[in-house]
Parts: sequence; C-alpha cells; structure tokens
Amino acid sequence: MDNEKTALILPMSSAHVVEVAKLHMAEISEGVISVLGHKFACGLYQAMIESERYFGFVAVKNSQVLGFAACAEDTSAVYKSVLKGNFFKLLWACFPKILSIRNLKYAIETLFYPVRCGGDLPVAELLSVVVDRQARGKGIGQRLVEASCAEFRSRGIGAFKTIVFERFPSNAFYQHVGFKLSGKRCQHGKQDVHNVYIMEVLSQG
Ligand SMILES: CC(C)(COP(=O)(O)OP(=O)(O)OC[C@H]1O[C@@H](n2cnc3c(N)ncnc32)[C@H](O)[C@@H]1OP(=O)(O)O)[C@@H](O)C(=O)NCCC(=O)NCCS
Repeated sequence: MDNEKTALILPMSSAHVVEVAKLHMAEISEGVISVLGHKFACGLYQAMIESERYFGFVAVKNSQVLGFAACAEDTSAVYKSVLKGNFFKLLWACFPKILSIRNLKYAIETLFYPVRCGGDLPVAELLSVVVDRQARGKGIGQRLVEASCAEFRSRGIGAFKTIVFERFPSNAFYQHVGFKLSGKRCQHGKQDVHNVYIMEVLSQG
C-alpha cells in the first residue's frame, strides 16, 4: 500500500501544532504566518484549535504529519477569539518581526480581510491546505478537502470560500477538487492578485 491508502486523516489537535506550523512555513512561505515566524505559527494554530469556530484535519503516516487542512466556520469570529485570549502571547511570539512596518501592515491587512471580503461571500473558509512535497500527487490534498467538506456539512454550513494567490500552481488543484472561481481581489498591494473560490457542500451527497 502507498501513502494514499495508509495516511490517516485525523482531526487536528494540539499534538500536531508543531508539525503543522513547520509544514505551513515550508510550503506557504509568502503568507503572513510564515513572515512572522515559527513561534508565531505554533501559537496561532494552538489558539485556533481552541476556538469552537475552527477545525482542521491532518494526514498522518508513521506518526508524521504529511499534510493538513485548516478551516473556519467564520474567519472573523475565529480571529476575534484568537486575539481575545492570546493577544500578548502572539505579540510576544512574533517579536521583533512585528516591529517592521511592512510586517505590521501585512498582519493588519490579513486580520481585516474577512471584513473587507464581506459581500455575498460565505463567512466559512478553508484557510489553508498543505501537503508535504514528498507526499504530493497521491490524493492526500483531495482527502483533506473532502474531510473538510464533510465537517462543514455536519455543522450545517452550505458553502465556504478559499482565497489563493492567482500565481500559485495550486489553483489547478482547487478547480480539480470542485471549487468554482467566484472572482478576484487584490491584497497586500496591486501585484498580489488572489482568486476567490467557492465550494458548495450542502448540495453534495
Ligand atoms: C495544493 C496541494 C495541497 C495539493 O496536494 P496533493 O496531495 O498533491 O493533491 P492531490 O494528490 O489530492 O491532487 C488532487 C488532484 O489535483 C491535481 N493537482 C494537485 N496539485 C496540482 C498542481 N499543483 N497543479 C495541477 N494539478 C494539481 C492532481 O493532479 C490531482 O488530480 P488526479 O487525481 O487526477 O491526479 C499541494 O500541492 C501543496 O501543498 N501545495 C503547496 C501549498 C499550497 O499552495 N497550498 C494552497 C494554498 S493554501
């Protein structure tokens, strides 16, 4: 049997935080989480796991995390609960990187994008999906998205969005697994065009 069959898809827990943060930083090097460093990434994932409106899945094989999906029922609500209980801890975790004007602006823009996104878009969101380079192309990403869809559905959520850099190769993945392109938006400056995708889940079997 290969990775595809033997990797287990499990709910993300505190036990996975360090590996999830490591994978996130290695594979989404341009996002704000990576910019603010590993300690911040660990603190953020731990705080998100403690939020009722957050859930995630990990793909695990031989005790190693090969991939993960991170989801929010309502991204603003998750960020609010994260900041409410962990503001100073997270600030300390990204010190001194957060003192750079560029990083601070990036962090603030990221915190407020759910509000700016608004409009008709669903508040539920697939925040990230990442698979270790060595384990790609074996269906793990698709299984993580499927597990996320099932969990959204069980929480009574009919649709969720995901936002991805237009230039990322992963756009083909999103379309392949069933997301529909809903529009485009600029974030962190005009050159950073993002695609906004929607996944309908309540209509699925
Ligand atoms: C995107 C990503 C999660 C896909 O994970 P994966 O485990 O390799 O994906 P799967 O094997 O489940 O692929 C499912 C389908 O999507 C297609 N696909 C996956 N990645 C693709 C890519 N980069 N380009 C084109 N098609 C892709 C596959 O061909 C596959 O189709 P198939 O079943 O007909 O072969 C992984 O490439 C990754 O971690 N990328 C870096 C992080 C990232 O950019 N994440 C998204 C932004 S948060």
